[in-house]
Amino acid sequence: MTSRRDFFAVNAGALLASALPRAASANTKTFPYAEFEQRIARKDFRDITKDVLPTPSMVVDIDMFEKNIKTMADYGKSAPILMRPHVKVHKSVDIAKRQVAMGAVGVTTATIAESELMSGAGIKGVLWTKQPASHNNIIRSINLTKRDPTFMFVVDSANVADWVEEAAAAAKVKCRVAVSVFAGLKRQGIENGQPAVNLAKRIASSKHMKLEGFMAYSGDASHTKTFAARRKRTAMDLAGVQETVALAKKSGLPGDIVSGGSTGTYNMDKDFGLTELECGSYVFMDSAYQRVGGKSNDEVYTDFENSLTVLVTVDHKLHPNLVTTDYGNKAMAKPTDMVKGMPWLNVINQGAEYGGLTWKDGGGEIKVGDRLDIYCSNLDTSTNCYDRYYIAKGNQIVDVWPIMGRSGAAQR
Ligand SMILES: Cc1ncc(COP(=O)(O)O)c(C=O)c1O
Repeated sequence: MTSRRDFFAVNAGALLASALPRAASANTKTFPYAEFEQRIARKDFRDITKDVLPTPSMVVDIDMFEKNIKTMADYGKSAPILMRPHVKVHKSVDIAKRQVAMGAVGVTTATIAESELMSGAGIKGVLWTKQPASHNNIIRSINLTKRDPTFMFVVDSANVADWVEEAAAAAKVKCRVAVSVFAGLKRQGIENGQPAVNLAKRIASSKHMKLEGFMAYSGDASHTKTFAARRKRTAMDLAGVQETVALAKKSGLPGDIVSGGSTGTYNMDKDFGLTELECGSYVFMDSAYQRVGGKSNDEVYTDFENSLTVLVTVDHKLHPNLVTTDYGNKAMAKPTDMVKGMPWLNVINQGAEYGGLTWKDGGGEIKVGDRLDIYCSNLDTSTNCYDRYYIAKGNQIVDVWPIMGRSGAAQR
């Protein structure tokens, strides 16, 4: 517990500090906050630097981001392996369009709403990786197929295949379907071998579905620590998939699309039979991926840069070894997050709009008003909490991209 003496010692320091927050530059006094939203809408970024942004805010370092999408695109071309990046990580049409411009054959989605969003923005080759098992999802999949015949989705159950066939027949459309097969992650994927091939045959012989191939997401391999262990896990989790694809081809079924993979396993998946990659996190990276280790370093994964940070403000400093920030539960603060450049700091939750940073020794240089950059732990859930990415070139904001396919009634 903080003693009375400790408490006043810390506060005396704070009172002696400068009257202005350290990060507040001269333009914070004159910056026209009343015009902020209109300026953003007009893309008029004069004077909009990281210093004046409201916090917590998501900021993307454009140089690192562009390097990441180029690294992955270049890998795809050299391997070669097709790219169909997962958009649930960023939920941004602006980013998806950049990925397609760099050679992606389409995008992968987690929900029908994300699929509608991406297809509606003109992106062809959307692959939805969850089967439509509800009335809502079946009808919307059929309707999306009508509007966009390049849309594909997966199925791992004969019942769902029959429901889709019935609805597609009624709507007079032909749906493009891939069989989702088990790749180590128990949440989805039909058993490999004959059960998967039987489902593939059922789809291929139907009138209103076209079999496109297979989807096999080896999600347990993606975050396995160390490159060697990850490769071993990938080999194990994709062994059954390879057998299934071979069996399917033997039966005359198409096996051209074998989609799967992740940021953690992108440079090994091709060796185990995948023909295209659904990697998503590589555009931004998060603290979980930083820790999985890479080919040349077992501790840190350096293939891609941490281009996304959450900018936060230190609001209170009243107790030893603790500051309070505005990065709380609503901003998806997690104890596994990391502070850029200050690995000795621990992130803690203190309430809906309150977070904190603690440290064992040192750390006294952090002051009220300081602005810090946080690497979040899980991109999918964090990006879901914010409305926009502020795109930064150094300290200057140069663009704003909306985060669109988020949760909410319209997104279900
Ligand atoms: C089906 C599917 N494919 C691909 C990915 C991409 O993984 P990552 O963001 O690790 O690259 C995910 C992520 O959870 C996923 O659920």
